[in-house]
Amino acid sequence: MAQQLCGVGLGPGDPELLTVKARRVLQEVGLIFCPAARPGRSRARSLVESLNLRVAVEELLFPMVRGEEAAAAAAAADRVAAAPQARVAFACLGDPALYSTFGYLRRELFRSHPEVAVEVVPGVTSLAEACARAGEALVLGRERLAILPGGEDPDTLERILRDFDAVAFLKQGSQLPQALAAVRSSGRLPEAALFGDLAGEAVIRRAPSDAQAGYFSLLLVRRGGWPE
Ligand SMILES: C[S@@+](CC[C@H](N)C(=O)[O-])C[C@H]1O[C@@H](n2cnc3c(N)ncnc32)[C@H](O)[C@@H]1O
Repeated sequence: MAQQLCGVGLGPGDPELLTVKARRVLQEVGLIFCPAARPGRSRARSLVESLNLRVAVEELLFPMVRGEEAAAAAAAADRVAAAPQARVAFACLGDPALYSTFGYLRRELFRSHPEVAVEVVPGVTSLAEACARAGEALVLGRERLAILPGGEDPDTLERILRDFDAVAFLKQGSQLPQALAAVRSSGRLPEAALFGDLAGEAVIRRAPSDAQAGYFSLLLVRRGGWPE
């Protein structure tokens, strides 16, 4: 039975942005679990397999349906705890502490399988990678940053855009038009940039005027805008 689970952040997709520690831990464990929204659809798994670690990989199903996280986490925690390997990993994109399925799994393990010790290896976040590509800091000095997960109502968006110097919109997907509309009506559209999928050659659109963005994209608004 598993005695230890390591939550490992893989970074945003570029294998060079995997930390030395993440690679070492993934190489040491007996089994690597990866979250999948649907069977066979795991970006984390593809990234892990590209590392050629010679460690078995198994998907854990986390359907992207609001309200079903707890049930998915309960099944995942049972599977992790029942693994015959003493030390296993759960590999996730970016950092395990930023909107990751690992958070649900960890909480559920504490509740239903406290015998499994949990360790975390942090990862480079998509936010950090976006700012690196854009060539500008997101916040400076006493500026304030808000990070949003999608699903905010227009009043909340208006208030946040008024109160914060920088706003990072993650997990927008099909809700991106609403986020862009709020940014536009706040007068901050010139300060916005839309980052495409950072796992490849991400397109960066300064002051975006359309809503063409997939799930793997970020909208970042910062005081002073972004360099050309
Ligand atoms: C469930 S959250 C996971 C965030 C991740 N734990 C991190 O630290 O970046 C997924 C959201 O993060 C952002 N994201 C993660 N990886 C990305 C990538 N490779 N390119 C663009 N956005 C990404 C997108 O906004 C996406 O909708």
